[in-house]
Amino acid sequence: MRMSVIGTGYLGATHAACMAELGHEVIGVDVDESKIALLSDGKVPFYEPGLPEILERNLTEGRLRFSTDYREAAEYANVHFLGVGTPQQRGSYAADLTYVRDTIATLVPLLKGDHLILGKSTVPVGTAAELQDLADLLAPEGTTVEIAWNPEFLRESHGVDDTIHPDRIVVGLRDGSPAEPTVREIYASQLAEGIPFLVTDRQTAELVKVSANSFLATKISFINAVAELCEASGADVVALADAIGHDDRIGRKFLGAGLGFGGGCLPKDIRAFMARAGELGADQALSFLREVDTINMRQRDRVVQFAKDTFGGSLLGHRVTVLGAAFKANSDDVRDSPALNVAGQLSLSGAAVSVFDPQAMANARKVFPTLTYADSLTDALSGAELVILATEWQEFRDMDPQEVGKVVDKPNIIDARNVLDPVQWRDAGWNIRAMGRTLS
Ligand code: UGA
Repeated sequence: MRMSVIGTGYLGATHAACMAELGHEVIGVDVDESKIALLSDGKVPFYEPGLPEILERNLTEGRLRFSTDYREAAEYANVHFLGVGTPQQRGSYAADLTYVRDTIATLVPLLKGDHLILGKSTVPVGTAAELQDLADLLAPEGTTVEIAWNPEFLRESHGVDDTIHPDRIVVGLRDGSPAEPTVREIYASQLAEGIPFLVTDRQTAELVKVSANSFLATKISFINAVAELCEASGADVVALADAIGHDDRIGRKFLGAGLGFGGGCLPKDIRAFMARAGELGADQALSFLREVDTINMRQRDRVVQFAKDTFGGSLLGHRVTVLGAAFKANSDDVRDSPALNVAGQLSLSGAAVSVFDPQAMANARKVFPTLTYADSLTDALSGAELVILATEWQEFRDMDPQEVGKVVDKPNIIDARNVLDPVQWRDAGWNIRAMGRTLS
């Protein structure tokens, strides 16, 4: 099938390449000329394992191309995926829908014939209906535009696999919508694999996405709250998570206690969900999410406090190495990164902070130019009085405590992601502190 994907960020670029990989003919459109130039040249403007290979292959085989011209998308296809950003509004918890509305306002007047727009962006409930009204208003005489919502559940760093083999495909259609057969045709190969296909109304599909992210965020904050209790009572949160995780009603995934969640999705999605609930007069129903957010942000402060404790209360003049800048491993995304937040707070408290990340250095420098960025892991560790493992990269998990001990000035480490073996590190002479773990 022919289709366009509007917006070529993490979501859109991955979706465009994966749709081509499934055999479709795809044009990706974005207003950002530099991004389109890179993608057209087979270069992914961000770090996403596996994506460069499928981008290159599908460009070469002619199933995929990119443009900054909406007119090309309008003329090329009758199915359009909408994958532009919905960031948090400045000065408010609500989602900023400017890019979503602008896309409809630009694309729809250019359309001729019958078109289907499948929204992928994470939006407040009710957005699809609002966009339908806008599209109906702007569609040229004789053109029909159907807006449906097809939320995306891909995780950064697993984007390709999550798009090609999703857990489920959800599509929200309005009453009497003729779009279901088209959606089934787009995802035919996945449906043939038996991937669950759920058809709902549009508002349910919109809510599915924010509910899923809010549930994941709640799970992480739940275990981080329990981690605080573990510290207060001398228990071990990792053993506890293993034990409760064996109950398959609970499950072990997303019970990793530590520095908490960040990135471009979970934090802003729970806030936008609360804001929308308020608009709908249902704010009490989601007031628990405020606590989820507070617990999450507190983990960053707790790590900074642990660092202060290491030096008897003051960080002034102490050399601290922060391992990690990305919001999670295998990503170069530093949006709302807990690691970078901790590094910034330490620096503002007077510490001499050195940061190292295998992929996120360039992005981190843009956000926090005043921090010192090391050229390598060894360079970062050299002369440190305290090491903080803040992003769970394999390279950091694999560190040998004996070897690292030879490079640092003082053997102090905070494992803010609970990925090191504390006994091994302690036996190698380290003073190790981990989140929610009592190392007796
Ligand atoms: C999240 C969802 O997992 C995706 O399903 C969704 O499609 C996506 O948002 C989105 O809305 O676009 P992502 O932001 O890529 O995906 O990251 P996650 O893998 O969910 O991790 C989020 C954060 O939680 C990271 O900072 C991670 O370090 C943290 N985390 C995760 C924990 O602190 N503990 C855990 O046990 C798991």
